[in-house]
Amino acid sequence: MNILVFGKDGQLGKAFQRLLDASPLASEVHQTLYVGRVECNLSEPSCIQKLMRDFQPQLMINAAAYTAVDKAEQEPDVAFAINATAPEVMARYAAKHGVTFLHYSTDYVFDGSGTKCYLENQPINPLGAYGKSKAAGELAVERAFQEVSYPGARYAIFRTSWVYGDGGNFIRTILRLAKELPELRVIEDQYGVPTSAQWLANISLQLCLDQQGCLRGFPSGIYHAVPAGETNWHGLARLAVQTAIEAGIPMKASGDAIHPIPAKGYPLPAPRPMNSRMSTQKLQKAFSDLGLVSKFPQWDELLRDYVVELANHQLI
Ligand SMILES: NC(=O)c1ccc[n+]([C@@H]2O[C@H](COP(=O)([O-])OP(=O)(O)OC[C@H]3O[C@@H](n4cnc5c(N)ncnc54)[C@H](OP(=O)(O)O)[C@@H]3O)[C@@H](O)[C@H]2O)c1
Repeated sequence: MNILVFGKDGQLGKAFQRLLDASPLASEVHQTLYVGRVECNLSEPSCIQKLMRDFQPQLMINAAAYTAVDKAEQEPDVAFAINATAPEVMARYAAKHGVTFLHYSTDYVFDGSGTKCYLENQPINPLGAYGKSKAAGELAVERAFQEVSYPGARYAIFRTSWVYGDGGNFIRTILRLAKELPELRVIEDQYGVPTSAQWLANISLQLCLDQQGCLRGFPSGIYHAVPAGETNWHGLARLAVQTAIEAGIPMKASGDAIHPIPAKGYPLPAPRPMNSRMSTQKLQKAFSDLGLVSKFPQWDELLRDYVVELANHQLI
């Protein structure tokens, strides 16, 4: 099977690479092409089309995105080109050629009102340009598959939140700051679920590949994909720093020296949803229907493993 992965240099793209390359099926069953900005700039639809035509994937994974949330306010056109037009081009090809297409979206498609977990079918209402561009991407993918769908063509749009992996992210920023400064202030009134890129890549492949590494059927649609539990940025920062200290990393700021502040005390160019909680019942049911383990791990277990791995590789 030919697998095409866009976004090879991002957190999720690297997680896919790690997972697919480590799989015993990697060389026997799959031929995988990892594509980054150098190989194909996603703002050029013709480049995406040529790649797909030449490689003829059966599974296509779009781990690339314009993720600079604040910068998107200044250049919404660029954000829309990468987050809406590019996935539309991919989805149109996938729908017409019987390809399985995995795409990723975000909690930022919601306005974050209320305190309940969002369901997949609840109305979206993005607050900023990044969220709007990702919402437009979701709609474009859904539309492409509604218009034409060859046998075997299917898609999953995984809406996720607070992703961390091999790359720059909130946790690594906090760990760096805690090494340099005796005290930190972190927002405590925005709630969500930190998501390991490695876990996300893993569950994505579990949904669409069977144990032999062959594509399998699953219901196309949007799926919320985050681990179990919830926290706020302050809780996440505290746990990350405490875990690093327990792993033997010297820190200037202890967990207790991380002080909670309200979001309005840390204004940013793009508004963020206050409530990013998303129900994963739909994805868990899909897992259960496929005979897969449908209990997702707790976010804090995954986070601890991540920080310990960073410590072991001297990356803090
Ligand atoms: N990070 C989060 O907290 C978060 C939260 C919710 C949802 N998500 C979604 O999860 C998915 C994966 O996110 P991530 O954290 O892995 O993102 P990431 O680390 O920022 O990686 C995104 C990748 O997309 C590539 N890219 C951007 N513009 C491009 C262009 N014009 N042409 C080619 N490649 C381009 C980037 O290339 P360069 O490396 O060359 O810049 C980068 O490697 C995305 O769909 C994102 O919207 C992320």
